[in-house]
Amino acid sequence: MTAVEAFAQFEATWRPQVEATLEALLPQGQGQVGQVEEGMRYAVLGGGKRLRALAVLAAAAAVGGEPAQALPAAAAVEVLHAYSLVHDDLPAMDNADQRRGQPSVHKAFGEATAILVGDALLTFAFELLGRLPALAGVSEAVSLACVRDLAVAAGSQGLVGGQEADIRAEELEPSESLLQAIHDGKTGALFGACFRLGARIGGGTEEQVEALGRFGQELGHVFQIVDDLLDVVGDPALLGKAVQADAAQQKLTYPRLYGVEAARQMARDRLDQALTLLEGLDAAVLRGLAERVIHRVR
Ligand code: IPE
Ligand code: IPE
Ligand code: MG
Ligand code: MG
Ligand code: MG
Repeated sequence: MTAVEAFAQFEATWRPQVEATLEALLPQGQGQVGQVEEGMRYAVLGGGKRLRALAVLAAAAAVGGEPAQALPAAAAVEVLHAYSLVHDDLPAMDNADQRRGQPSVHKAFGEATAILVGDALLTFAFELLGRLPALAGVSEAVSLACVRDLAVAAGSQGLVGGQEADIRAEELEPSESLLQAIHDGKTGALFGACFRLGARIGGGTEEQVEALGRFGQELGHVFQIVDDLLDVVGDPALLGKAVQADAAQQKLTYPRLYGVEAARQMARDRLDQALTLLEGLDAAVLRGLAERVIHRVR
């Protein structure tokens, strides 16, 4: 079986389990007023490739753990990712009307509710990690380490920092170092955390947590290069979101700085370099995930 086939099989087995876990864990939409919880479910359950969740599960398996035990943490990262998309689409950020082939949350629920939906999803992700001892039978220490890893990845040194650089880039001098900081922060950090969480829950050593975290960080950076490329050459019907949006907003992207062909080559080279971090691990599924990330059209 090739690595690509190994990932396809893993995805066919585990993606439905990720969906079922999200469905079961999300609040049922019975709050006093109800719009925020309805919006949370709309934002999370309305599609999505679930590649971050699958990364958590595959990292757990790569260190000899049981993917099923990592399902609640996989749900937590998808919930946090969904928050980042809700806020990313807001008029004050990327002003995007479509997400996953549907109206974005602020289009469907209004802007104020969308801000609250994002806040509630971000908070809920950490609630889930705090509940890991009950939900997944992991120790309090592993639960706390997961909280810490995800908090660092999501905050001003990670996703939020990258998003700040992304929006400020419109007014700053384009540079290679700024581009690196944007992609490392807004997308690399969360992918890194996915792998760290999976490795921790799978019972990996601290060395394995670090190595897989570095791999994830790089895979996330490559994921964002591909996202930039798809904004230029992709099919909006497949992507479920508008294309040509980055150029319209003068975003600092790989295709803008280097051109499409060079950006493609840089993504491939960076991924090949990252794959060396997996040496010594039983990681066919992770290699297949990496190929999926670089060859994706949606
Ligand atoms: C979109 O992420 C945001 C980026 C970091 C580029 P995905 O392409 O993983 O979005 P979904 O979850 O599959 O919709
Ligand atoms: C989004 O990057 C990164 C985060 C949401 C943190 P983009 O702005 O390029 O993502 P899309 O293209 O809207 O999905
Ligand atoms: Mg953005
Ligand atoms: Mg965007
Ligand atoms: Mg994009």
